[in-house]
Amino acid sequence: MKLSVVGCGYLGAVHAAAMASIGHDVVGIDVDEAKIAQLASGRAPFFEPGFDELLTRTIGEGNLRFTTSAAEARDATVHFIAVGTPQREGEDGADLRFVDAAIDALIPHLKPGDVLVGKSTVPVGTAARLAERITGTGAELVWNPEFLREGFAVADTLSPDRIVYGVADVDSEAVAILDAVYHPAIEARTPRMVTDYATAELVKVSANAFLATKISFINAISEIADATGADVTQLADAIGYDARIGRRFLNAGIGFGGGCLPKDIRAFASRAEELGHGRALRFLREVDEINLRQRDRVAELITAELGGSVVGRRIAILGLAFKPNSDDTRDSPALDIALRMHGLGANVVAYDPEAVATARRVHPHLTYANTLEDALRGAELVSVLTEWRQFVDLDPVIAAASVASPTIIDGRNCLDPQRWIENGWRYRGLGRH
Ligand code: UDX
Repeated sequence: MKLSVVGCGYLGAVHAAAMASIGHDVVGIDVDEAKIAQLASGRAPFFEPGFDELLTRTIGEGNLRFTTSAAEARDATVHFIAVGTPQREGEDGADLRFVDAAIDALIPHLKPGDVLVGKSTVPVGTAARLAERITGTGAELVWNPEFLREGFAVADTLSPDRIVYGVADVDSEAVAILDAVYHPAIEARTPRMVTDYATAELVKVSANAFLATKISFINAISEIADATGADVTQLADAIGYDARIGRRFLNAGIGFGGGCLPKDIRAFASRAEELGHGRALRFLREVDEINLRQRDRVAELITAELGGSVVGRRIAILGLAFKPNSDDTRDSPALDIALRMHGLGANVVAYDPEAVATARRVHPHLTYANTLEDALRGAELVSVLTEWRQFVDLDPVIAAASVASPTIIDGRNCLDPQRWIENGWRYRGLGRH
């Protein structure tokens, strides 16, 4: 089938390449000329395992091309909207200007029978408004949220846990068309639900709100564990054995970041307020606060371990990306903590296996190491803030030989405390000792 994907950021670029890999003829469209040129040359503008190969292969096979011209969507029958919905400047709500611009650009090229598919995360009510706007084109709108995780984007796109189609009419022909687009996942019996627009929009933000709540729950408990000498990791294992709770997303640490969870819970709470039901989601404000407080806790812990002042003290920060297997530093708690320590006068040397270039572009004043060894050399305190494999596997004996003082703050509770303590280190985790 012929598909167009409007918006070639993280979501759109991966979606376009994934759809091309299952045999569709895909055109990726974006207003950013530099991004389009880079994608067209087969180079990924971000680090994502497996994406580079997929891009090169699908372009090479002739199934995927990129353009800045929306008119090139005219031959496609299914058009995906995958543009960003960032947080509005100085406010909590979502900025829908890119969604509106994408629809405006597509409208002149839509034909009767076409399907317009919204994938971006939007405030509930947006799909109904957009459906209204495209009446007259003869195209139909489906809201089909995307649940991909960075670091697993290709696999999540090709083999999602579930597929949700929000439609105006349950008998819509668009359902069969989208089933044909997603045929490998449909044939693999992936759960597929057809809902109304509002439900489809809410499924996405509710899923993110639930995940964020789970993380903030365990982080709140980690504070009580610290106050009482309990171990939050063992506690999470024990409660996680209850299938109703589950162990995943119960890792306490410096908290959640990235381009989705933080802005999505703020936009969701703000949308509830607009709807006159702010109190229903007031707890999400607390979830956000607990999350941000984790950064304060780590900053305080580092300061306390250094005797009350960090001025001039050499701190190795291991990890800048908001999570491993990503070079994304958007709303990254790790980068935030590095910047705070730097702001307090510490001599911070930061290292990340993939995210140094991204961090340096926005914060050139921070000192970055090219290797893990360089970051450790002479450090008076080491802080692991992103649980990259390389850091989890770090040998405490080798590390001890590089640093000036063997103190480690495990901001992700990802190290084995016993192993570090036995090898002469002072170990501090969050809600764990
Ligand atoms: C998230 C959702 O998982 C995904 O379904 C949605 O489509 C987009 O938002 P992503 O932002 O890629 O995906 O990352 P995710 O793996 O959810 O992690 C988000 C943040 O939570 C990271 O900063 C991670 O380090 C943190 N986290 C995760 C924890 O602090 N503890 C955990 O137990 C799990």
